[in-house]
Amino acid sequence: MSELKITGYGDDLTINDMRLGDLSPKDHENIEKEKGGQNYKPLEDVVVSHVKDSSTLICRKPSEDNIKAYIEEELIDGLCCYSAVNQGQLNQEIVDAVIHHLQNEKLPTVPRSIRHKYMSAFLMATTEITGMDKVVPKVSGVESWELTFKLCRRWGYQVKNIPQGKGIIVGATGNFHGRTVAAVSMSDDPDARNDFGPFIPGIELVPYNDFDALKNLFEEKGEYIAAYSVEPIQGEAGVIVPDDDYWPKVEKLCKAHNILLAMDEVQTGFGRTGANFAHQLFGVKPDIIGCGKAAGGGILPVSFVAGSKEVINTLTPGSEGSTFGGYPLASVVGVYAIKTLVDLNLAENAKIRGEQLMNHFNDIKDDFPDKIKEVRGKGLLTAFEMHNHKHLDGHEVSVELLNQGVYAKETHHSTVRFAPALTIKAWQIDDMAEKLRNVIKEL
Ligand SMILES: Cc1ncc(COP(=O)(O)O)c(C=O)c1O
Repeated sequence: MSELKITGYGDDLTINDMRLGDLSPKDHENIEKEKGGQNYKPLEDVVVSHVKDSSTLICRKPSEDNIKAYIEEELIDGLCCYSAVNQGQLNQEIVDAVIHHLQNEKLPTVPRSIRHKYMSAFLMATTEITGMDKVVPKVSGVESWELTFKLCRRWGYQVKNIPQGKGIIVGATGNFHGRTVAAVSMSDDPDARNDFGPFIPGIELVPYNDFDALKNLFEEKGEYIAAYSVEPIQGEAGVIVPDDDYWPKVEKLCKAHNILLAMDEVQTGFGRTGANFAHQLFGVKPDIIGCGKAAGGGILPVSFVAGSKEVINTLTPGSEGSTFGGYPLASVVGVYAIKTLVDLNLAENAKIRGEQLMNHFNDIKDDFPDKIKEVRGKGLLTAFEMHNHKHLDGHEVSVELLNQGVYAKETHHSTVRFAPALTIKAWQIDDMAEKLRNVIKEL
């Protein structure tokens, strides 16, 4: 049997003889390559160490004169963990709530088969902020989407009376809902699907933002369709914002065919797009939504499904569950993630700072029209797309931004997304945009 000795915190965290503070960026890369699955391709030569302020990280880069050593530099967090840290890194109020509840309130860890008092607070806060009747807690984003998928199927059989086994859930091309087998069954991204089949049946895709395609499908197969399950704005696809009248028309169409509108607000929720939830920007009300990411305040994975009584009431004991979904710490963090969203008026700040950032993007586009093709966004979910030339490479832009001290990442070859914390200050937006301008100029 191997001997394992673990001691220390932070840089002194030591596993046998390996102390974290002694590792160079190359050492980290080698360990990840040797001991980890290669399901990500992280930016080269940089390791994040700790937080400086709500939008600034401290990272380590190789020292120029000694490969075994590193230097520390500031990095503006232009991505905030793909919108999981809307409230800002280490949001003090959420951190205080966590520490207080663990230390002073002696927070227990119990499963859902026994009631705990914090669940009531979680359900009150989540139903109030979403305006939905009922909520079911989960852990990761994809789980919230998957539960909406299951609930839509159940509603289809039990309420709409779709013949058993014939239910269809409609999705949109370019969708991203996560990595479970159900989610990749809906995906049309070959990288996400390759050799993971057979996929689950009963899924059909329509082109995103194409009302007529949806209408035709509903007219053809509406009696078997339980739901249209879709992102209100597509995030991973490169921040695709549908036409202003798309969602109101879709909502009406769904009602006319007795089909649920199920929205994945995992990335777009919690103030990101300038409203608490992106569907509100379009004046529609889905029957059910899935939330995650910033639902955990950037501290803990917390997700939930919120929906109408008619849909959520199809759940019965034993039909769903999650050991850590809504356990006491997740409930407290979930409540404080919402308290921060409301108290700091994060949706409003996203709107104001988002306009500021989009103005910068548009100025850069005007100055370099041969490089930037399109600028897209709502609130602080923003992206620009470059023309489709080999030398206009999104990855190169990410690497150059990193050299300038900004963390942002390409979504596809030529699109780069910016989604900083919703607490970001005006001067930090200006700073980030100036650095981006320098990078674009040099391409
Ligand atoms: C719209 C959407 N749904 C679901 C997910 C999956 O969330 P998680 O990675 O927490 O499972 C993501 C993640 O990026 C997302 O953007």
